Amino acid sequence: MSQANITFLGLGAMGYPIAGHLAKAGYKVTVYNRTISKAEQWLTEYSGTLATSPEDAVKDADIILTCVGNDNDVREIYKKILSAAKAGTILVDHTTTSAIVARGLYQQAKDKGMGFLDAPVSGGQAGAENGVLTIMVGGDQTTFDTVSSVLNTYAKASTRIGEAGQGQVLKMINQLCFIGALQGLSEALTLAKAEDIDGRTVVDVLQHGAAGSWQMVNRSETMMNNEFDFGFAVDWVRKDLAICFEEAEKLGVELPLTKQIDERYKDLQERGYARADTSVLIKQFDKETR
Ligand SMILES: NC(=O)c1ccc[n+]([C@@H]2O[C@H](COP(=O)([O-])OP(=O)(O)OC[C@H]3O[C@@H](n4cnc5c(N)ncnc54)[C@H](OP(=O)(O)O)[C@@H]3O)[C@@H](O)[C@H]2O)c1
Repeated sequence: MSQANITFLGLGAMGYPIAGHLAKAGYKVTVYNRTISKAEQWLTEYSGTLATSPEDAVKDADIILTCVGNDNDVREIYKKILSAAKAGTILVDHTTTSAIVARGLYQQAKDKGMGFLDAPVSGGQAGAENGVLTIMVGGDQTTFDTVSSVLNTYAKASTRIGEAGQGQVLKMINQLCFIGALQGLSEALTLAKAEDIDGRTVVDVLQHGAAGSWQMVNRSETMMNNEFDFGFAVDWVRKDLAICFEEAEKLGVELPLTKQIDERYKDLQERGYARADTSVLIKQFDKETR
C-alpha cells in the first residue's frame, strides 16, 4: 500500500487536512477540488499532483478517497469516478450520506470490479487537522483490511461496522448523540451566565465528571467567546438529521429530542448561521439578535 497511487477529491474543511496527512505520510497523492484554487493552495503546503477534472484525477489511482457535501454531490462525483477509474481500485467515501446512497455505490462499484467502502468520520475539523478522526466503515472486510493502514494515517480509530451502508448508519447514531450533548451544553452555559457563574468554572469543575463531553471540552470556550466561523456547518448537520429522520421513520423509531433541536437549527439557518459551526446552537437563547 505504501506505493499506492492515492487520489483525494473534495478539499473542504475535512478533506484538505486529510489529504495533507496522506502526503505527509509519503503516499503519492493526486488532488482534485471543484474550486481549483483550493487544490492550488493545498499544493503550496503539501507535495502531490493537481488534477483539473475528476476523471483525470482517478484514471491511474489504486485508492480513491472522497469527502464532498451531500447525497447529490456524492452521486454526481461518483458518476464521473466510476466511469474513469480502473477495475481493482478501492473507493472510500468519507462524506456523510444516506445508507441508500452508500449501498447503491457499493453495488455499482462491485459491478465494475471495484471495492467501495462508506467511511463517514467523526472528530470535526480539528480531528482531521490533528489526524485523530474516528472512522465508521461499511463494506467488505477484505476491502477494509486492504486500506486500513491508509485510513489510520489520519484516524485514531477506524472500525468496520458491517456490510455496505452500516458505516453511515453508525454515523447517524453519532449525530443523535452529539447534538443532544450540544443542546445540553447550550442550556447549561446560558443558565450559568444568568446565574452569574463563569462558564469556565462550569467547564473546569464538570468536564471530568458524568456531565463531561467532547462538546464541553472542545466547544465551550468558543461558544462563550461567540466564535462560530469554523468547523461543522449548520447546513451539514441539518442534512445529516434529515437522513436520520428518514431512516428512523422507515423503522418506526421516534426521535423526539432530535426533532426539537432540528427546529432550532432551522431557525438559526434562517437567521444567517447556515455556515456557522453547529455550536452556534447556543444562539437560540441570544435574545438581542433575534
Ligand atoms: N466539517 C466537519 O466538522 C465534519 C465532520 C464530520 C463529517 N463531515 C462531513 O464531511 C463532508 C464534508 O464536510 P466539510 O465540512 O469538509 O464541507 P466543506 O468544507 O463545505 O467542503 C465540501 C467539499 O466538497 C466539495 N464539493 C461539494 N459538492 C461537490 C460536487 N457536487 N462536486 C465536486 N465537489 C463538491 C467542495 O468543493 P468546492 O470547494 O468547490 O465547494 C468542497 O471541497 C460532509 O458530508 C459533512 O457532513 C464534516
